[in-house]
Amino acid sequence: MQRVLVSAPGKVNLALRVGGPRPDGFHPLDTVFEALDIFDDVDAQRADALSLEIIGLGEDLPVDGTNLAIRAAKALQEKTGTTAGAHITITKRIPVAGGMAGGSADAAGTLLALNELWELGLRMEELLQIGAELGSDVPFSLFGGVAHGRGRGEELEHVRVTSMHAWVLLTRPDGLSTPAVFREFDRLHPDAGGPADTVALRRALSDGTVDEVGALLANDLAVAARSLRPELGAAIDAIAAGGRHVILSGSGPTIAVLVTPEESQEVAAQLRADFPDTQVYIAHGPAAGAHIRTVE
Ligand code: C5P
Repeated sequence: MQRVLVSAPGKVNLALRVGGPRPDGFHPLDTVFEALDIFDDVDAQRADALSLEIIGLGEDLPVDGTNLAIRAAKALQEKTGTTAGAHITITKRIPVAGGMAGGSADAAGTLLALNELWELGLRMEELLQIGAELGSDVPFSLFGGVAHGRGRGEELEHVRVTSMHAWVLLTRPDGLSTPAVFREFDRLHPDAGGPADTVALRRALSDGTVDEVGALLANDLAVAARSLRPELGAAIDAIAAGGRHVILSGSGPTIAVLVTPEESQEVAAQLRADFPDTQVYIAHGPAAGAHIRTVE
């Protein structure tokens, strides 16, 4: 095998309920992830050493050992003892530092691609475990669909969903740092207990309408993100005042508006006009988890 091409999805959290920090500093979560059809492509080719190139969005991201894709490759080498190398080319479409788990998708795609390219034969269960050591959102990008996440987001169970969702996404070039948003959450909620639950949302996903799902969207990091970026709060409030189901995606700053597939173009056009300084995308979910597209 010389080359493996994998696509890995970004995500939105339909609910992100956050508790006070655990002794290890991570926050206990009760969350519902939905994979979106915005994919980063990971193209892995046999080579003597490990190297990384990024095209598309995020061309200024580091391509050294601090990049999560290289860390994923090194984790595989360490776990399996392989000394194989690879040249990895990532085509990025998921907004960088946007709260849509783009870096995690790159790590998930790299794990899947190199498991195949290097013929390691690791089972999905093992890839999920290595993914969890790399980052809280990496397992979900492997998993895909809609999932209930516990722990720090890595303990996953599939959620059955009856309808397709369309999302209008508003992204900004100036990303937010996830650790900074969690730190602001701690400052604003010094007495936070365990995370709230997501039972009603998961029930609505299984047997409710898009409107019923929309009414249950919730993100406990939104207050912290709004505190760091007041203009985010103003945009979310204006979209909500227009009667839309709107939520901050993950730790932001991407804003996600839940619509039906039929109305997505019209809503996107309206939001492009209302917020000319943002990039507006349409995405659909639930999408598949990281998957192999081509093997040569
Ligand atoms: O797991 P990941 O590396 O993606 O997390 C990035 C940062 O986000 C962590 O270093 C931590 O500050 C914060 N985080 C958290 N609780 C979580 C997930 C992430 O505090 N459940």
